[in-house]
Amino acid sequence: MKTDYDITQDSDRVKKVEPSLIRTVLNRVDELRKSGHEIIALSAGEPDFNTPSDIKEATINAINQNYTHYSSNRGYEKLRKKIAEKTWEETGVYYDYQSEILVTSSGAEAINNTILSIVDEGDEAILFSPAFVNYENMIKISGGVPVIIDLKREDRFEIDIGKVEEHITEKTKMLVINNPNNPTGAVYDRSVLEQLCELAVKHNFIIVSDEMYSRLVYDDVLFRSIASFPDMKERCVIINGFSKTYAMTGWRLGYITAGEKRINGILKIHQYSTTCSPTFIQMGVAEGMDTELTKKEISQMVDTFVKRRLCLMKGLDKIKGLSYVIPKGAFYIMADVSETGLSGLDYAGRLLEEKHVAVIPGVGLGKRCSDFIRISFAASTKYIETALDRIEDFNQSLMKSE
Ligand SMILES: Cc1ncc(COP(=O)(O)O)c(C=O)c1O
Repeated sequence: MKTDYDITQDSDRVKKVEPSLIRTVLNRVDELRKSGHEIIALSAGEPDFNTPSDIKEATINAINQNYTHYSSNRGYEKLRKKIAEKTWEETGVYYDYQSEILVTSSGAEAINNTILSIVDEGDEAILFSPAFVNYENMIKISGGVPVIIDLKREDRFEIDIGKVEEHITEKTKMLVINNPNNPTGAVYDRSVLEQLCELAVKHNFIIVSDEMYSRLVYDDVLFRSIASFPDMKERCVIINGFSKTYAMTGWRLGYITAGEKRINGILKIHQYSTTCSPTFIQMGVAEGMDTELTKKEISQMVDTFVKRRLCLMKGLDKIKGLSYVIPKGAFYIMADVSETGLSGLDYAGRLLEEKHVAVIPGVGLGKRCSDFIRISFAASTKYIETALDRIEDFNQSLMKSE
Protein backbone atom coordinates (compact mmCIF):
# COMPACT_ATOMS: atom_id res chain seq x y z
CA MET A 1 0.00 0.00 0.00
CA LYS A 2 1.33 3.47 -0.91
CA THR A 3 0.66 5.23 2.39
CA ASP A 4 2.41 8.44 1.33
CA TYR A 5 0.35 8.80 -1.85
CA ASP A 6 -1.58 12.07 -2.11
CA ILE A 7 -5.01 10.95 -3.33
CA THR A 8 -5.73 14.36 -4.88
CA GLN A 9 -2.65 14.20 -7.08
CA ASP A 10 -3.07 14.08 -10.88
CA SER A 11 -1.54 11.35 -13.01
CA ASP A 12 1.84 12.09 -14.60
CA ARG A 13 -0.04 12.32 -17.89
CA VAL A 14 -2.18 15.19 -16.65
CA LYS A 15 0.80 16.96 -15.12
CA LYS A 16 2.35 17.23 -18.57
CA VAL A 17 -0.33 19.64 -19.80
CA GLU A 18 -1.27 23.20 -18.92
CA PRO A 19 -4.79 24.66 -18.95
CA SER A 20 -5.47 26.67 -22.10
CA LEU A 21 -4.93 30.43 -22.01
CA ILE A 22 -7.93 30.79 -24.33
CA ARG A 23 -10.17 29.42 -21.57
CA THR A 24 -8.64 31.85 -19.07
CA VAL A 25 -9.60 34.79 -21.33
CA LEU A 26 -13.11 33.42 -21.94
CA ASN A 27 -13.62 32.94 -18.18
CA ARG A 28 -12.54 36.53 -17.50
CA VAL A 29 -14.99 37.72 -20.18
CA ASP A 30 -17.77 35.84 -18.35
CA GLU A 31 -16.77 37.40 -15.01
CA LEU A 32 -16.76 40.92 -16.45
CA ARG A 33 -20.12 40.35 -18.13
CA LYS A 34 -21.60 39.03 -14.88
CA SER A 35 -20.48 42.19 -13.14
CA GLY A 36 -22.43 44.23 -15.69
CA HIS A 37 -19.80 45.23 -18.26
CA GLU A 38 -20.57 45.17 -21.97
CA ILE A 39 -17.70 43.19 -23.49
CA ILE A 40 -16.97 43.04 -27.21
CA ALA A 41 -15.60 39.53 -27.57
CA LEU A 42 -13.39 38.91 -30.58
CA SER A 43 -11.83 36.03 -28.71
CA ALA A 44 -13.88 32.90 -29.22
CA GLY A 45 -13.53 30.67 -32.25
CA GLU A 46 -17.21 30.30 -32.86
CA PRO A 47 -19.57 31.64 -35.49
CA ASP A 48 -22.32 33.83 -33.99
CA PHE A 49 -24.83 32.56 -36.60
CA ASN A 50 -27.72 30.27 -35.83
CA THR A 51 -27.47 26.62 -36.79
CA PRO A 52 -29.22 26.04 -40.17
CA SER A 53 -33.00 25.84 -39.63
CA ASP A 54 -33.50 22.47 -41.36
CA ILE A 55 -30.88 20.84 -39.10
CA LYS A 56 -32.62 22.21 -36.00
CA GLU A 57 -36.05 21.09 -37.17
CA ALA A 58 -34.92 17.61 -38.19
CA THR A 59 -33.18 17.18 -34.81
CA ILE A 60 -36.31 18.17 -32.90
CA ASN A 61 -38.29 15.70 -35.02
CA ALA A 62 -35.75 12.97 -34.27
CA ILE A 63 -36.14 13.59 -30.52
CA ASN A 64 -39.93 13.60 -30.81
CA GLN A 65 -39.75 10.31 -32.70
CA ASN A 66 -37.69 8.93 -29.81
CA TYR A 67 -34.40 8.44 -31.61
CA THR A 68 -32.78 8.74 -28.23
CA HIS A 69 -30.89 5.44 -28.03
CA TYR A 70 -27.37 4.35 -28.95
CA SER A 71 -26.43 4.43 -32.63
CA SER A 72 -23.73 2.40 -34.34
CA ASN A 73 -20.25 3.14 -32.92
CA ARG A 74 -19.11 4.38 -36.32
CA GLY A 75 -22.06 6.75 -36.53
CA TYR A 76 -25.52 6.73 -38.09
CA GLU A 77 -25.23 5.21 -41.54
CA LYS A 78 -27.15 7.92 -43.39
CA LEU A 79 -24.91 10.59 -41.86
CA ARG A 80 -21.77 8.71 -42.91
CA LYS A 81 -23.17 8.48 -46.47
CA LYS A 82 -23.82 12.23 -46.52
CA ILE A 83 -20.32 12.94 -45.17
CA ALA A 84 -18.84 10.71 -47.89
CA GLU A 85 -20.79 12.63 -50.56
CA LYS A 86 -19.82 16.03 -49.15
CA THR A 87 -16.15 15.04 -48.91
CA TRP A 88 -16.19 13.77 -52.49
CA GLU A 89 -17.79 16.99 -53.76
CA GLU A 90 -15.45 19.28 -51.85
CA THR A 91 -12.13 17.45 -52.11
CA GLY A 92 -12.45 14.81 -54.82
CA VAL A 93 -11.48 12.08 -52.33
CA TYR A 94 -13.74 9.04 -52.16
CA TYR A 95 -14.22 7.46 -48.72
CA ASP A 96 -16.31 4.34 -48.25
CA TYR A 97 -19.04 5.29 -45.77
CA GLN A 98 -19.07 1.74 -44.38
CA SER A 99 -15.43 1.52 -43.41
CA GLU A 100 -13.57 4.81 -43.87
CA ILE A 101 -15.63 7.36 -41.92
CA LEU A 102 -16.07 7.73 -38.17
CA VAL A 103 -18.51 10.19 -36.59
CA THR A 104 -17.23 11.74 -33.35
CA SER A 105 -18.58 14.05 -30.68
CA SER A 106 -16.68 17.13 -31.90
CA GLY A 107 -13.53 17.94 -33.80
CA ALA A 108 -11.73 17.92 -30.45
CA GLU A 109 -12.71 14.28 -29.87
CA ALA A 110 -11.58 13.45 -33.40
CA ILE A 111 -8.15 14.97 -32.67
CA ASN A 112 -7.94 13.27 -29.29
CA ASN A 113 -8.81 9.80 -30.60
CA THR A 114 -6.64 10.12 -33.69
CA ILE A 115 -3.55 11.07 -31.71
CA LEU A 116 -4.14 8.41 -29.04
CA SER A 117 -4.43 5.78 -31.74
CA ILE A 118 -1.21 6.78 -33.53
CA VAL A 119 1.30 8.07 -30.98
CA ASP A 120 3.23 5.73 -28.67
CA GLU A 121 5.63 6.60 -25.84
CA GLY A 122 8.67 8.39 -27.30
CA ASP A 123 7.27 8.85 -30.81
CA GLU A 124 8.03 12.22 -32.32
CA ALA A 125 5.27 14.28 -33.89
CA ILE A 126 6.04 17.38 -35.94
CA LEU A 127 3.83 20.38 -35.30
CA PHE A 128 3.84 23.99 -36.40
CA SER A 129 3.55 26.93 -34.06
CA PRO A 130 1.34 28.88 -33.57
CA ALA A 131 -1.40 26.25 -33.64
CA PHE A 132 -4.66 25.11 -32.15
CA VAL A 133 -3.65 24.04 -28.64
CA ASN A 134 -5.06 20.51 -28.63
CA TYR A 135 -2.43 18.91 -30.86
CA GLU A 136 0.57 19.55 -28.62
CA ASN A 137 -1.27 18.69 -25.44
CA MET A 138 -2.73 15.46 -26.80
CA ILE A 139 0.68 14.38 -28.07
CA LYS A 140 2.09 14.93 -24.58
CA ILE A 141 -0.81 13.03 -23.00
CA SER A 142 -0.09 10.16 -25.39
CA GLY A 143 3.53 10.04 -24.21
CA GLY A 144 4.81 11.40 -27.51
CA VAL A 145 7.32 14.18 -28.09
CA PRO A 146 6.02 17.29 -29.86
CA VAL A 147 8.68 18.58 -32.25
CA ILE A 148 7.67 22.16 -32.85
CA ILE A 149 8.61 24.22 -35.88
CA ASP A 150 8.06 27.93 -35.42
CA LEU A 151 6.33 29.67 -38.30
CA LYS A 152 7.51 33.17 -39.02
CA ARG A 153 5.60 36.29 -39.72
CA GLU A 154 8.21 37.22 -42.40
CA ASP A 155 7.16 34.00 -44.23
CA ARG A 156 3.46 34.92 -43.80
CA PHE A 157 3.30 31.93 -41.42
CA GLU A 158 3.81 29.59 -44.39
CA ILE A 159 5.52 26.21 -43.95
CA ASP A 160 9.24 26.10 -44.78
CA ILE A 161 9.79 22.63 -46.25
CA GLY A 162 13.56 22.79 -45.62
CA LYS A 163 12.85 23.30 -41.90
CA VAL A 164 10.47 20.34 -41.86
CA GLU A 165 13.13 18.11 -43.40
CA GLU A 166 15.65 19.24 -40.79
CA HIS A 167 13.31 18.15 -37.99
CA ILE A 168 12.60 14.65 -39.30
CA THR A 169 14.32 11.85 -37.39
CA GLU A 170 14.06 8.07 -37.15
CA LYS A 171 11.40 8.60 -34.50
CA THR A 172 9.10 10.85 -36.55
CA LYS A 173 5.76 9.09 -36.71
CA MET A 174 3.33 11.86 -37.46
CA LEU A 175 3.09 15.42 -38.76
CA VAL A 176 0.07 17.60 -38.01
CA ILE A 177 -1.17 20.40 -40.22
CA ASN A 178 -4.22 22.60 -39.88
CA ASN A 179 -5.49 23.81 -43.22
CA PRO A 180 -7.06 26.46 -43.35
CA ASN A 181 -5.21 27.53 -40.26
CA ASN A 182 -6.31 28.72 -36.86
CA PRO A 183 -4.81 31.19 -35.90
CA THR A 184 -2.68 32.29 -38.89
CA GLY A 185 -5.31 32.17 -41.64
CA ALA A 186 -2.85 30.37 -43.94
CA VAL A 187 -4.27 28.06 -46.62
CA TYR A 188 -1.56 25.80 -47.99
CA ASP A 189 -0.99 25.79 -51.72
CA ARG A 190 -0.42 22.83 -53.99
CA SER A 191 3.35 23.02 -53.90
CA VAL A 192 3.64 23.01 -50.08
CA LEU A 193 1.19 20.13 -49.78
CA GLU A 194 2.93 18.16 -52.53
CA GLN A 195 6.29 18.57 -50.82
CA LEU A 196 4.85 17.48 -47.46
CA CYS A 197 3.44 14.40 -49.18
CA GLU A 198 6.85 13.61 -50.68
CA LEU A 199 8.50 13.88 -47.26
CA ALA A 200 5.82 11.69 -45.67
CA VAL A 201 6.41 8.97 -48.25
CA LYS A 202 10.21 9.27 -48.18
CA HIS A 203 10.43 9.13 -44.37
CA ASN A 204 7.36 6.98 -43.81
CA PHE A 205 5.25 9.07 -41.45
CA ILE A 206 1.52 9.79 -41.16
CA ILE A 207 -0.03 13.18 -41.87
CA VAL A 208 -2.92 14.31 -39.72
CA SER A 209 -4.69 17.21 -41.37
CA ASP A 210 -7.25 19.23 -39.42
CA GLU A 211 -9.57 20.67 -42.06
CA MET A 212 -12.26 22.08 -39.75
CA TYR A 213 -12.34 25.38 -41.67
CA SER A 214 -12.25 23.86 -45.16
CA ARG A 215 -15.18 25.91 -46.49
CA LEU A 216 -13.94 29.22 -45.14
CA VAL A 217 -11.48 30.50 -47.75
CA TYR A 218 -11.31 33.99 -49.26
CA ASP A 219 -10.14 35.94 -52.32
CA ASP A 220 -10.45 33.03 -54.79
CA VAL A 221 -8.02 30.93 -52.75
CA LEU A 222 -8.52 27.23 -53.43
CA PHE A 223 -8.65 24.78 -50.53
CA ARG A 224 -7.03 21.40 -51.26
CA SER A 225 -7.24 18.45 -48.92
CA ILE A 226 -3.87 16.77 -48.48
CA ALA A 227 -5.63 13.41 -48.90
CA SER A 228 -6.41 14.36 -52.51
CA PHE A 229 -2.78 13.99 -53.60
CA PRO A 230 -1.88 10.74 -55.35
CA ASP A 231 -1.63 7.72 -53.02
CA MET A 232 -2.05 9.87 -49.90
CA LYS A 233 -5.46 8.73 -48.68
CA GLU A 234 -4.04 5.79 -46.69
CA ARG A 235 -1.25 7.90 -45.23
CA CYS A 236 -3.52 10.72 -44.01
CA VAL A 237 -6.08 11.12 -41.28
CA ILE A 238 -8.45 14.01 -41.95
CA ILE A 239 -10.23 15.75 -39.08
CA ASN A 240 -13.39 17.69 -39.85
CA GLY A 241 -16.70 18.62 -38.25
CA PHE A 242 -19.77 20.80 -38.14
CA SER A 243 -18.76 23.34 -35.46
CA LYS A 244 -17.28 26.05 -37.64
CA THR A 245 -18.77 25.62 -41.08
CA TYR A 246 -22.35 24.90 -39.95
CA ALA A 247 -22.35 27.19 -36.88
CA MET A 248 -22.82 24.20 -34.59
CA THR A 249 -20.16 24.56 -31.88
CA GLY A 250 -22.52 23.58 -29.07
CA TRP A 251 -23.76 20.42 -30.81
CA ARG A 252 -20.36 18.72 -30.59
CA LEU A 253 -20.33 16.84 -33.86
CA GLY A 254 -17.19 16.00 -35.80
CA TYR A 255 -15.84 13.27 -38.03
CA ILE A 256 -12.71 11.54 -39.24
CA THR A 257 -11.99 10.25 -42.72
CA ALA A 258 -9.08 7.85 -43.24
CA GLY A 259 -8.14 4.43 -44.58
CA GLU A 260 -10.06 1.44 -43.18
CA LYS A 261 -7.30 0.10 -40.92
CA ARG A 262 -6.66 3.46 -39.31
CA ILE A 263 -10.40 4.07 -38.75
CA ASN A 264 -10.68 0.67 -37.07
CA GLY A 265 -7.95 1.62 -34.59
CA ILE A 266 -9.48 5.01 -33.85
CA LEU A 267 -12.88 3.35 -33.46
CA LYS A 268 -11.58 1.39 -30.46
CA ILE A 269 -10.71 4.60 -28.60
CA HIS A 270 -14.06 6.13 -29.64
CA GLN A 271 -15.92 3.06 -28.30
CA TYR A 272 -14.28 3.41 -24.92
CA SER A 273 -14.75 7.15 -24.67
CA THR A 274 -18.15 8.16 -26.04
CA THR A 275 -19.55 4.93 -27.57
CA CYS A 276 -21.39 7.00 -30.18
CA SER A 277 -22.35 10.61 -30.78
CA PRO A 278 -25.90 11.61 -29.72
CA THR A 279 -28.24 9.75 -32.07
CA PHE A 280 -30.83 12.48 -32.62
CA ILE A 281 -28.09 14.98 -33.48
CA GLN A 282 -26.64 12.61 -36.06
CA MET A 283 -30.10 12.07 -37.55
CA GLY A 284 -30.94 15.77 -37.60
CA VAL A 285 -27.68 16.60 -39.34
CA ALA A 286 -28.08 13.76 -41.84
CA GLU A 287 -31.56 15.02 -42.76
CA GLY A 288 -30.74 18.72 -42.79
CA MET A 289 -27.11 19.18 -43.87
CA ASP A 290 -27.68 19.30 -47.61
CA THR A 291 -31.16 20.75 -48.11
CA GLU A 292 -31.50 23.77 -50.39
CA LEU A 293 -32.30 25.97 -47.38
CA THR A 294 -29.20 24.81 -45.48
CA LYS A 295 -27.02 25.42 -48.53
CA LYS A 296 -28.46 28.93 -48.79
CA GLU A 297 -27.95 29.66 -45.09
CA ILE A 298 -24.36 28.39 -45.17
CA SER A 299 -23.50 30.41 -48.25
CA GLN A 300 -24.99 33.53 -46.60
CA MET A 301 -22.81 32.82 -43.58
CA VAL A 302 -19.70 32.53 -45.75
CA ASP A 303 -20.59 35.77 -47.60
CA THR A 304 -20.94 37.52 -44.25
CA PHE A 305 -17.50 36.28 -43.18
CA VAL A 306 -16.10 37.74 -46.42
CA LYS A 307 -17.54 41.16 -45.50
CA ARG A 308 -16.44 41.00 -41.87
CA ARG A 309 -12.90 40.08 -42.83
CA LEU A 310 -12.68 43.09 -45.13
CA CYS A 311 -14.21 45.34 -42.47
CA LEU A 312 -11.66 44.19 -39.87
CA MET A 313 -8.70 44.48 -42.25
CA LYS A 314 -9.71 47.97 -43.43
CA GLY A 315 -10.15 49.10 -39.83
CA LEU A 316 -6.81 47.65 -38.70
CA ASP A 317 -5.06 49.27 -41.67
CA LYS A 318 -5.97 52.66 -40.22
CA ILE A 319 -4.76 51.96 -36.68
CA LYS A 320 -1.22 52.92 -35.78
CA GLY A 321 0.83 50.35 -33.91
CA LEU A 322 -0.77 47.22 -35.39
CA SER A 323 0.18 45.15 -38.40
CA TYR A 324 -0.97 41.73 -39.59
CA VAL A 325 -0.70 38.98 -42.16
CA ILE A 326 -3.71 38.84 -44.50
CA PRO A 327 -5.71 35.69 -43.64
CA LYS A 328 -6.63 33.50 -46.62
CA GLY A 329 -8.97 31.28 -44.64
CA ALA A 330 -10.68 30.53 -41.28
CA PHE A 331 -11.88 33.57 -39.26
CA TYR A 332 -8.91 34.97 -37.37
CA ILE A 333 -6.25 37.63 -37.83
CA MET A 334 -2.89 37.44 -36.09
CA ALA A 335 -1.93 41.04 -35.35
CA ASP A 336 1.54 42.15 -34.26
CA VAL A 337 1.29 44.70 -31.43
CA SER A 338 5.00 45.08 -30.67
CA GLU A 339 5.05 48.68 -31.98
CA THR A 340 2.84 49.70 -29.06
CA GLY A 341 5.62 48.68 -26.66
CA LEU A 342 3.47 45.98 -25.04
CA SER A 343 3.69 42.21 -25.31
CA GLY A 344 0.62 40.51 -26.78
CA LEU A 345 -0.20 39.19 -23.30
CA ASP A 346 -0.13 42.62 -21.64
CA TYR A 347 -1.88 44.20 -24.61
CA ALA A 348 -4.75 41.68 -24.54
CA GLY A 349 -5.03 41.93 -20.74
CA ARG A 350 -5.20 45.72 -20.74
CA LEU A 351 -7.47 45.92 -23.79
CA LEU A 352 -9.94 43.71 -21.94
CA GLU A 353 -9.77 45.46 -18.58
CA GLU A 354 -9.57 49.04 -19.90
CA LYS A 355 -11.57 48.96 -23.14
CA HIS A 356 -13.65 45.82 -22.67
CA VAL A 357 -12.54 44.21 -25.92
CA ALA A 358 -11.49 40.56 -25.67
CA VAL A 359 -8.82 39.07 -27.95
CA ILE A 360 -6.47 36.12 -27.40
CA PRO A 361 -2.80 36.73 -26.56
CA GLY A 362 -0.60 35.06 -29.21
CA VAL A 363 1.43 33.19 -26.55
CA GLY A 364 -1.69 31.16 -25.85
CA LEU A 365 -1.25 29.65 -29.32
CA GLY A 366 2.53 29.54 -29.68
CA LYS A 367 5.44 30.29 -27.34
CA ARG A 368 7.16 32.49 -29.93
CA CYS A 369 4.05 34.58 -30.58
CA SER A 370 4.54 36.96 -27.67
CA ASP A 371 4.26 39.99 -30.00
CA PHE A 372 0.84 38.93 -31.29
CA ILE A 373 -2.83 38.92 -30.47
CA ARG A 374 -5.45 36.81 -32.26
CA ILE A 375 -8.55 38.70 -33.32
CA SER A 376 -11.57 36.66 -34.36
CA PHE A 377 -13.96 38.04 -36.97
CA ALA A 378 -16.70 35.59 -36.04
CA ALA A 379 -18.67 38.51 -34.64
CA SER A 380 -21.13 41.00 -36.17
CA THR A 381 -19.83 43.92 -38.25
CA LYS A 382 -21.30 46.29 -35.65
CA TYR A 383 -19.26 44.56 -32.93
CA ILE A 384 -16.15 44.61 -35.09
CA GLU A 385 -16.57 48.34 -35.80
CA THR A 386 -17.03 49.14 -32.10
CA ALA A 387 -14.00 47.00 -31.23
CA LEU A 388 -11.94 48.81 -33.88
CA ASP A 389 -12.87 52.20 -32.37
CA ARG A 390 -11.85 51.01 -28.93
CA ILE A 391 -8.60 49.48 -30.20
CA GLU A 392 -7.78 52.76 -31.97
CA ASP A 393 -8.37 54.71 -28.73
CA PHE A 394 -6.29 52.23 -26.78
CA ASN A 395 -3.39 52.41 -29.22
CA GLN A 396 -3.49 56.19 -29.28
CA SER A 397 -3.24 56.29 -25.51
CA LEU A 398 -0.34 53.80 -25.58
CA MET A 399 1.57 55.60 -28.33
CA LYS A 400 1.08 58.98 -26.59
CA SER A 401 2.42 57.74 -23.27
CA GLU A 402 5.60 56.37 -24.88
C1 LIG B 1 -8.30 24.10 -35.85
C2 LIG B 1 -9.37 23.57 -34.97
N1 LIG B 1 -9.58 22.25 -34.92
C3 LIG B 1 -10.52 21.71 -34.14
C4 LIG B 1 -11.32 22.51 -33.36
C5 LIG B 1 -12.33 21.86 -32.47
O1 LIG B 1 -13.61 21.95 -32.97
P1 LIG B 1 -14.85 21.36 -32.16
O2 LIG B 1 -15.60 22.53 -31.65
O3 LIG B 1 -15.64 20.59 -33.16
O4 LIG B 1 -14.32 20.52 -31.07
C6 LIG B 1 -11.14 23.90 -33.37
C7 LIG B 1 -11.95 24.77 -32.50
O5 LIG B 1 -11.61 25.92 -32.23
C8 LIG B 1 -10.14 24.44 -34.21
O6 LIG B 1 -9.93 25.77 -34.28
